[in-house]
Amino acid sequence: MSRPSDLKQSFINIFGKDPIIARSPGRVNLIGEHTDYNDGLVLPAAINKNVYVAIAKNNLRKIRLHALDLADSFETSVDAIAKTEKLWPDYILGVVEQLQLNNYKIGEGFDLAFTGDIPQGAGLSSSAALECASTFALSTLYGLDLQKLDIALLSQAAENQFVGVNCGLMDQFASVFGKKQHLIKLDCADYSYEYIPFHSTDLKILLLDTQVKHSLASSAYNDRRKECEEGVRLICKHYPIKSLREATEEQLLTYVKPINPIVYNRCSYVVSEINRVISACEDLKRNDVRSFGQRMFDTHDGLQYLYEVSCPELDLLVDLAKENPNILGARMMGGGFGGCTINLVNAEKAEEVAATLTKIYEEKTGNKIPYYIAEINTGTSLL
Ligand code: GLA
Repeated sequence: MSRPSDLKQSFINIFGKDPIIARSPGRVNLIGEHTDYNDGLVLPAAINKNVYVAIAKNNLRKIRLHALDLADSFETSVDAIAKTEKLWPDYILGVVEQLQLNNYKIGEGFDLAFTGDIPQGAGLSSSAALECASTFALSTLYGLDLQKLDIALLSQAAENQFVGVNCGLMDQFASVFGKKQHLIKLDCADYSYEYIPFHSTDLKILLLDTQVKHSLASSAYNDRRKECEEGVRLICKHYPIKSLREATEEQLLTYVKPINPIVYNRCSYVVSEINRVISACEDLKRNDVRSFGQRMFDTHDGLQYLYEVSCPELDLLVDLAKENPNILGARMMGGGFGGCTINLVNAEKAEEVAATLTKIYEEKTGNKIPYYIAEINTGTSLL
């Protein structure tokens, strides 16, 4: 990771001109996992870890990209946007393709360099942050005047259509709409949202990073999404529902379970998780953090046994969390199969809890793992 001032200097060294610099943050999600692509509710927040993108026009009809932290470059023509072998350029090229498909004029070509401090593969949405920072930087550079929701939707479309992960809107929305000291209660059915205060003087968000990265994660993610769609299709034979948001447990028991018990498990988890987010937000408004924390544990159970997107390392960290009186709730976070657990901890004990859990984890597995105490920050901006 280089600092934004180093990014600027590197950009000048490589491309010979002054850039504008945009940033977009990673995110955490307190509760509401695998609900976004089912028109459900989520409760994410942007955090104090960012991707920084430096950009300037080059008038060569070329796109010249440089990943500072990888010391790697890529170049192509604005008229030849295609997937690359390297993967990292795809997050930016996917955005360019979406802008072109939507008839935004970015024809003269541009130079772009980026850096960041969001750990990759940790489930903190470094790719969404790169997409959103790139979209916002391009919008600013070309005066496209994209609104916040457009930036999030366009970045999501890049991930879906170019990168090939059929993700929901949560990560991009959180990255763009983040607000200091607030969680975002987002309704993915209509993109309405509400900011909910989060008192970081009492509570801290502790992320324990298993550093486990499963190569199958994105294909398993797309499979889960298909299983949810299958559940909707089975119910639709009897009731016209658009998504699992409208489904009930009774419908799942009657129309899905007898035909496909696995699909039933997936859908049953999603339906209860959507309800859990609603209850969890009520807990927060009453300041009942104990109850909120218990719901996080319940979410983990569902992700482990019904949705089956956890892994032994995440399960171990959640089991350890259950035994620690200073942790109110914990669960795996994000798509699954690795990455971080999110732990809601008593603020003054956060460092102590982190030291204890990482030590026990190391004793049990032989692996030393990093942790992060996340502060909630503002969304996408210019520097
Ligand atoms: C990933 C996706 C999100 C969301 C989560 C699971 O982070 O990008 O859209 O589906 O997984 O909640």
